[in-house]
Amino acid sequence: MRATLLLRSLACAAILGGGTGVEAQSSSDGVNLDDIETIFAFGDSYSWNGYTPLLGVNNIPGYGLTTSGGYNWLQFLSQLGSTPITLYDLAASGATTNNSVISAPATDFVNQVGLWNDWFAPGTGTYTSAGQVRWETNSTLFTVWIGINDVGAPYDAQTDFPQQLSEIFSSYNAAVASLYAAGARNLLILGVPPTWRTPLIQAYNDSRVGVYQDRVGQYNVGLTQLFNTFAPSYPDASFRLYDTIPFFNTILDRPADYGFTVTDRACAAYEAVTNQPEINVPECGAPLSDFVWWNTYHPAWPVHELLASVIGGVLAAPDTTPATTLTSAQGSLPTSASTAGGTAATSSSSSSSTTATAPTTDSASASETASQGSASGSVGPSASASGGAGGSSAAGPSRPAGGRAGAAALVVALGVASALLAWT
Ligand SMILES: *[C@@H]1O[C@H](CO)[C@@H](O)[C@H](O)[C@H]1NC(C)=O
Ligand SMILES: *[C@@H]1O[C@H](CO)[C@@H](O)[C@H](O)[C@H]1NC(C)=O
Ligand SMILES: *[C@@H]1O[C@H](CO)[C@@H](O)[C@H](O)[C@H]1NC(C)=O
Repeated sequence: MRATLLLRSLACAAILGGGTGVEAQSSSDGVNLDDIETIFAFGDSYSWNGYTPLLGVNNIPGYGLTTSGGYNWLQFLSQLGSTPITLYDLAASGATTNNSVISAPATDFVNQVGLWNDWFAPGTGTYTSAGQVRWETNSTLFTVWIGINDVGAPYDAQTDFPQQLSEIFSSYNAAVASLYAAGARNLLILGVPPTWRTPLIQAYNDSRVGVYQDRVGQYNVGLTQLFNTFAPSYPDASFRLYDTIPFFNTILDRPADYGFTVTDRACAAYEAVTNQPEINVPECGAPLSDFVWWNTYHPAWPVHELLASVIGGVLAAPDTTPATTLTSAQGSLPTSASTAGGTAATSSSSSSSTTATAPTTDSASASETASQGSASGSVGPSASASGGAGGSSAAGPSRPAGGRAGAAALVVALGVASALLAWT
């Protein structure tokens, strides 16, 4: 297992890292994780670990409540420097960018930034002013991975998507400006992944899959334009945009190269388990570590581990290239390893409309919305974050390779698996 993981990481770093992607930054300096002491993270369930500053400064022991069956990419990333990086993960499962635009039962990105201001802003934050958290601009990384829920759910919430995108990116812009004003100088933004390739969406009909694909494309095109607008206005900062589409496409198209055997389904027995990365239930047909998907809408921890490895390379590489328009909607698949990271960069944005159809109101979308509604009580961090102190995020996670997760019992994340079917 350990050997497989190492090979995975090396292979993926070699193929997808190295600054060949469409990531861009506004300064030519790379960010060395060895110099990073603190990460403040914003996002949705792809980044969530259940942390909330309301429950104490370090309230995530062990794995927390990720949606990967083990650690998430941020927890892996925080282990890639020479010393563990302290992670304050404000991402909220189910989050959109701004609930006033696309409403979701979770703390949206703009309010995550509000929370950050309340607790971590220099001088005025509760923890910073009390001396419980110290961070400096040059050793702190901010990450934003949001948009999956703006695009994906509920299916019929995007009544006028172009207009909603405009409002979303206006909010996004203001949130980033506010972080910059408070001292954020290293910022990593991730684009929306190819959610149309998840088992959940693949189960829909072609036209509906096409709607998802098209919306992801529109979102990423807008995000890239926004990035190219604001990044140059922050000249003393290192801002990067990373396109996650080629990353996921590469794994899904050549799973064996990365040690995966199951790409088209999740296994119910794994979906409720959050802290047993080496779990292997015979009826699932393969161990969780062989699955790309932990549940039908969320990648399993080995994908997160690979992503962290790739991101580490992206951060370290100097790159002055402006972000190229992300044509995620096209879902163009890398045909060789050498193009895996750069395929999207050369595609044109005009391709994004080929599969577009207008979302319609129908019984399927209505029931999807209903199920999201019924699940909403358990998706937010306030409802399901693990209480209890003890664990320190500074101590950080260790790599799960080489055995089961200590003495940790099989913990069922109550409601999380079903709640996250569509709200990520
Ligand atoms: C960050 O700045 C401080 C001074 O404010 C300096 O002591 C430290 O070495 C710098 N760290 C890095 C990684 O450049
Ligand atoms: C959220 O969106 C609404 C509607 O577009 C907008 O009025 C509001 O300013 C946004 N909030 C933030 C914090 O950007
Ligand atoms: C595909 O699914 C959508 C949403 O459920 C539905 O409105 C549409 O009629 C379906 N299209 C076809 C061709 O079956």
